[in-house]
Amino acid sequence: MVVGAPGSGKTTFCLYLAGLFCRQGKRVAWIDADPGQPFIGPPAAFSLSLYRDASELLKRKLPLVMGFIGNISPVGHLLEAVTNIQKLYSRAVSLDPDLILINTDGLVAGGAARELKFHEIDMIAPRYVVAIQRSHEVEHLVSPHVHRAGLLVLRVPVSPDARVSTGEARKSYREQRFKEYFRGAEYLDIALNDVGIHGPGLGAGERLGFRDVNLLSKVLKSIVVHAELSSDRLFVITDGDYSENDLFTAKERYSVREIIVIKRAELDYLLVGLNDDQNMTLHLGIVRELDSRELILRVVTPCRDISPIRHLSLGSFRVNPAGNELGQW
Ligand SMILES: Nc1ncnc2c1ncn2[C@@H]1O[C@H](COP(=O)(O)OP(=O)(O)OP(=O)(O)O)[C@@H](O)[C@H]1O
Ligand SMILES: [Mg+2]
Repeated sequence: MVVGAPGSGKTTFCLYLAGLFCRQGKRVAWIDADPGQPFIGPPAAFSLSLYRDASELLKRKLPLVMGFIGNISPVGHLLEAVTNIQKLYSRAVSLDPDLILINTDGLVAGGAARELKFHEIDMIAPRYVVAIQRSHEVEHLVSPHVHRAGLLVLRVPVSPDARVSTGEARKSYREQRFKEYFRGAEYLDIALNDVGIHGPGLGAGERLGFRDVNLLSKVLKSIVVHAELSSDRLFVITDGDYSENDLFTAKERYSVREIIVIKRAELDYLLVGLNDDQNMTLHLGIVRELDSRELILRVVTPCRDISPIRHLSLGSFRVNPAGNELGQW
């Protein structure tokens, strides 16, 4: 497992090591756990690929399998990051490769970085953690594990030739990768009743009828187009603005702990994961339209076969099919 700050040379190191193994006739399973600057798959997802030949490292390989993180940053999606790294690792083990290489994201400072790296290392229990650092910026991430039996921390200084790219260049790289991924994508309609949904509430409760929808429209001074009630939560989609001051009234009326209201426009261009029965990601999609009467979500995606899709994971990042990033949810 390779850890280091942005631009420290993580991907370069992985390429070097993978090339070295492939040239010796060995098979390398590469887990790309960097949703911001991915090497293998699109941004906002972790990917796994198997390399048998060094020449395969020069061209873009399709991932064997992906895990949707939901955002280009793991912050706010730490559970998705930890569970997906573990699931991709299990898949990698089943390929029986000679080396499993895990490239991680460049988040090395702050509480989220500490939590994420702690649990990633804990889950995988790698044989080696390669810590690439200028001074001691990743020590605090590896120190909780230094007494773990069987784990070796290899400290590598950042190469004097390593270059940190600007935020603008990193964004442009992501946009290019999104654009490549969605090139040739088409509309696909997903009936929400046919999939399990992981997200802020859509599909989690019982759909409310028109009397409740009318009542909520009055209370929230808005046009409510969809409402669902579960034991502790009311989930509402509105067309346009609503009165935030009246959320409490709606909460009281339905005796719930939580009310989540989203505007229909906020769903537009939202990244989603189209996942299989094991909740592994087959394709990414971009939401374009919710038919709130028929409960059909129209997405733009390279996916052509809807039959293996059993889970829909709503992300928190918006992007259009041309790759332009439209910000957080
Ligand atoms: N050992 C090295 N020798 C020469 N150039 C290097 C070396 N390590 C990194 N670089 C150069 O520095 C830049 C950043 O390296 P790289 O992309 O591998 O870093 P990273 O840690 O993966 O960054 P990111 O956080 O953007 O994913 C690249 O242009 C790469 O070619
Ligand atoms: Mg990298």
